[in-house]
Amino acid sequence: MKPPGPKGSLFWGSLKDFQADPLDFLLNASREHGHLARFRFAHLEAYLVNDPELIEEVLLRNSEHFDKDTRSAQKIRATCGDSLLSANQRTWQRHRNLIQPVFQPGFVATMDGVIDQTTEEMLSRWENISKSGDRIDLVAEITALVIDISTKVLFASDIDPGKLETALAIVLDDTWRRLQSPIDLSEISTLFHRKSFKSSLSEIDEIVFGIIKGRRSSRTGHNDVLSRLFEARTENSDKQLSNKELRDAVITLLLAGHETTANALSWAFYLLAREPKKIPIDGNFENVFRETLRLYPSIWIIERRIKERTQIGDHMLKKGASVLISPYVLHRNVKFWEQPEDFNPDRFLETENETRPRNAYLPFGLGKHRCVGLHMATRIATRVLSVVHEKFKLTVASTEKPIPYPGITLRHSNNIYCYVEDV
Ligand code: HEM
Repeated sequence: MKPPGPKGSLFWGSLKDFQADPLDFLLNASREHGHLARFRFAHLEAYLVNDPELIEEVLLRNSEHFDKDTRSAQKIRATCGDSLLSANQRTWQRHRNLIQPVFQPGFVATMDGVIDQTTEEMLSRWENISKSGDRIDLVAEITALVIDISTKVLFASDIDPGKLETALAIVLDDTWRRLQSPIDLSEISTLFHRKSFKSSLSEIDEIVFGIIKGRRSSRTGHNDVLSRLFEARTENSDKQLSNKELRDAVITLLLAGHETTANALSWAFYLLAREPKKIPIDGNFENVFRETLRLYPSIWIIERRIKERTQIGDHMLKKGASVLISPYVLHRNVKFWEQPEDFNPDRFLETENETRPRNAYLPFGLGKHRCVGLHMATRIATRVLSVVHEKFKLTVASTEKPIPYPGITLRHSNNIYCYVEDV
């Protein structure tokens, strides 16, 4: 039985509707067509899966029938080479085995000093802004802060985080632009890549290779991800990562980690500035961060390719088609979330939690591709929220309400300006 779904136009199918407003399109498809909706983007067939049980089948129980050889993985390969976000199964497994152990909670807890100190540096600037009665550009401040923290944690090194931030933004924007377009000439030859993309990628390469080579000649005294990756070995092999593999791994971690964390953290500050009563008096911001990621999951869509004809629930899915899972849509399902548009961190209190299916909440994904950086992102976000709220009160100055803007991550439709005051 073919799953139901929006018809769309004869040639484009639903592509134009999706491009016009992806979040609205996906929300409507789930509301109108239920657990599994089928549609077409020009010649590509896709299924949107909206049910926790069926999602578990795709990402966990029957995951061998799906892979990540998707358009997004192909596009990201131009930047990350073959690593966690883009590699084929064998290379992916090798990288996963080497990288995942690095990000365990024990190591993540050693980041506190770096997080606190870097946040304090930002706050001393805010002190002057507060005195002058000026406003901060919230997302710009938090993005710069997260890049600064991430580079220190990844490769404790004296680089200019601003330069890296600009280059990464250009690379991500270009990747998203190519992903949205049905025709991508740069797939035929790298000659077709935009000039700005190429020069930004060379800048990133220069910085990252510079650090790796420097580290090969003097390896002592660092407690960062890079030094752990230098030492990493898989269980059954003594082979270390080459310079190119280290470069691919580090850029992957930067790309996957900085914008996701910065956007979620900016949303959290915005939500608390709008509803200060929700600031936790005990200083524990975990449920605030959880609830922020429910409303604004940085990875708003997860994609898999169907390797062979496969049954999910009552439906047969076609080989070669895409399966889409949207945490943004799932987290707004009224069956699991009361008043889903409300910001209510208390819904994550344990007693409230018990009635909800396990996989109704998936900001970090599920199964073998589950986010390797989830402890790191949570630690950075909760710590920064707590250090800032000990010293400053934020009030939203912008009149325009930001709405979620889906790019490679879930961004903000416009700048959010805030006044900052000493508490
Ligand atoms: C709030 C912040 C973050 C969110 C919401 C987030 C979300 C996700 C999600 C949903 C996936 C799974 C994608 C899929 O199944 O296709 C994922 C994968 C990944 N994340 Fe995160 N992430 C965050 C922060 C980070 C950080 C800080 C890092 C690293 C420093 C990181 C590194 C990765 C990597 C490397 C993968 C690919 C894993 C694999 O395929 O094996 N993420 N992330």
